[in-house]
Amino acid sequence: MPAAGFSVSASAGSEFDAKITPIVVISCFMAATGGLMFGYDVGISGGVTSMDDFLIKFFPVVYRRKHETKESNYCKYDNQRLQLFTSSLYLAGLTATFFASYTTRNLGRRLTMLIAGIFFIVGVIFNGAAQDLPMLIVGRILLGCGVGFANQAVPLFLSEIAPTRIRGGLNILFQLNVTIGILFANLVNYGTDKIHPWGWRLSLSLAGIPALLLTVGALLVVDTPNSLIERGRLEEGKAVLKKIRGTENVEPEYNEILKASRVAQQVKHPFRNLLQRRNRPQLIIAILLQIFQQFTGINAIMFYAPVLFNTLGFKSDAALYSAVITGAVNVLSTVVSIYSVDRLGRRVLLLEAGVQMFMSQVVIAVVLGLKVSDHSDNLSHGYGIFVVVMVCTFVSSFAWSWGPLGWLIPSETFPLETRSAGQSVTVCVNLLFTFVIAQAFLSMLCHLKYGIFAFFSAWVVVMSVFVLFFLPETKNVPIEEMAEKVWKRHWFWKRFMDDDDDKTNGAYEAVKKAQP
Ligand code: BGC
Repeated sequence: MPAAGFSVSASAGSEFDAKITPIVVISCFMAATGGLMFGYDVGISGGVTSMDDFLIKFFPVVYRRKHETKESNYCKYDNQRLQLFTSSLYLAGLTATFFASYTTRNLGRRLTMLIAGIFFIVGVIFNGAAQDLPMLIVGRILLGCGVGFANQAVPLFLSEIAPTRIRGGLNILFQLNVTIGILFANLVNYGTDKIHPWGWRLSLSLAGIPALLLTVGALLVVDTPNSLIERGRLEEGKAVLKKIRGTENVEPEYNEILKASRVAQQVKHPFRNLLQRRNRPQLIIAILLQIFQQFTGINAIMFYAPVLFNTLGFKSDAALYSAVITGAVNVLSTVVSIYSVDRLGRRVLLLEAGVQMFMSQVVIAVVLGLKVSDHSDNLSHGYGIFVVVMVCTFVSSFAWSWGPLGWLIPSETFPLETRSAGQSVTVCVNLLFTFVIAQAFLSMLCHLKYGIFAFFSAWVVVMSVFVLFFLPETKNVPIEEMAEKVWKRHWFWKRFMDDDDDKTNGAYEAVKKAQP
């Protein structure tokens, strides 16, 4: 198999005339705040669920266990109800994203972001004011609906509005906001942990800041030309295209979008269409990327960093401190990805990270295996620092690879007619597996102990092999030209692009040929 067959990149000259205009950059910054909320929700749970005041109020059983010394180090937080608090958000999100698919397609990307913002605001009110467990869970569910809508619309918005040559970088602003949200949450928890007995309330309420930012942002941005044109608003779409590209010469790009939108309008059932053979490569890749992203084990670290470090015998403060360090590494390494994704390409980042993640996880498993026994109180100072350094090594490589690219690649590879349906499947699978990890992690930690890191490292090998052989390069390929420039040229996936194989492609081909 020739190495050249593994990847395909666009030939030079496929770029449309486009300047990097302030309106594009500002719109992307505002829309990307949708990621802040997702990140804040991911980051806040771990800290809150290790606060005594919170446990006493909502999970007294866990509180008692935490303070009983005879419980194994690895098992003291293993409680299904506590895990349900973390997980309910993801269950709500993975259901809501299918409604969001309808709104992104029929009402546009911008309005869908606005709906997300409103869900977030109401969810925050419920959580901050929670009097009992049901109220707490209702708040989490509303936040989950917000995540379902935001994660559906924001990555699509960013990929569509960005000029091709910096599409990767602008899309990763979403993930950058996710990481800032996680860090912000860690910092907040670090401070509120000392406020008794209502520090947890402050932690949950401060999510109002990202919620407001997204809502205001959604009111101010323009919708993407692709979405406007898809919904038949041709003149408006063209005007927006001229404005965001900073040029009058938008005809070639406009025609590409128009062609894609004519195909899209033929499609009455986007989800059924998604199952057609022609969409198989994108669908398989989108689903696998989400499963793989979660099976890197990142959320085992992110949700439970404070709990994990506590388990390892760090004192409560040191635990939050370590979580803040991993949070900062996460943010900074995402910036590396913004810089390099359109230069080095998606594949290089994923393959390099595979090696780094594998090595750091194996080392962590070995150190914990040798040095942490079930009931001993402490990892020695030196080993403690070593584990934190290895966790940071792992987090940094995730942050410039699977973190952002898990969101970028699906949002840029589906054709317009199935883009919102494809994104729903992406969000659904992502949240489903986030849920699985959130729900299972503490029990897995209790049973597998340090072996949990070996478990994730084996997955890293599988996903890296997949990238090597099956993931084509999409850097510098215009979003509406993926079929021609990527899938039809890929050594494996091109067999799905053989139009004659598929009668359902008839309408698609007819529309395509009728276009200039
Ligand atoms: C993932 C989240 C994860 C975060 C960590 C995101 O891309 O989807 O599940 O918590 O990255 O930075």
